[in-house]
Amino acid sequence: TTVADLAGRHVVVSAGGTREPLDPVRFLGNRSSGKQGYALARTAVARGARVTLVAANTGLPDPAGADVVTAGTAEQLREQVVKAAADADVVVMAAAVADFRPAAYAAGKIKKKDGEEPPPLALVRNPDILAEISAHRARPGQLVVGFAAETDDVLANGRAKLARKGCDLLVVNEVGERKAFGTEENEAVVLGADGSETPVPYGPKEALADRIWDLVAARLV
Ligand code: C5P
Repeated sequence: TTVADLAGRHVVVSAGGTREPLDPVRFLGNRSSGKQGYALARTAVARGARVTLVAANTGLPDPAGADVVTAGTAEQLREQVVKAAADADVVVMAAAVADFRPAAYAAGKIKKKDGEEPPPLALVRNPDILAEISAHRARPGQLVVGFAAETDDVLANGRAKLARKGCDLLVVNEVGERKAFGTEENEAVVLGADGSETPVPYGPKEALADRIWDLVAARLV
């Protein structure tokens, strides 16, 4: 039996990966499947929460009982997350957001021309949504959770990122073979701004989602 420890709470979860268009047929994207975010949405519904899922390019079926809105780019994701966060108790940024986008969008398909160098790819920074919502909480006591995929010095880099982003919890994944992206399983350490460190062993993404909600529920006021 599941405890309805999120009953009466509004939680916002972002999932998937943003796509930053270069021209009408091309984009810069990433390998995020959205599965961890969807597992968070499903488990939050099971625990009694009202759930807004902001889905970026996932192609996954809508989780029953969640309000699903979609976003293609980082800018669109930011708009949807900020809107949904206005009355949220918890915001979980599980989406992989592009740090950069093409500086310009070509209205026509970019063509290769014989004898010419490839065109340079100029990028500009995207807004950091996690840092922004952490710095400007829409309501007192709102909890903000981020994710970080690291390849080395996982804990040290995770601690530094938690401080930099200003969120309450940071779920740190080590990325590598058979880990995190596109798989059904995950393994993580959840770092808390209070200094806590909770290892979650390799297992289903649903199990990691439930551990995250345990840590969130314990911190809700
Ligand atoms: O900085 P990095 O991309 O490693 O941080 C990952 C975390 O920050 C994730 O929770 C992701 O959703 C969030 N993020 C964001 N806006 C960005 C980049 C990342 O909210 N532009």
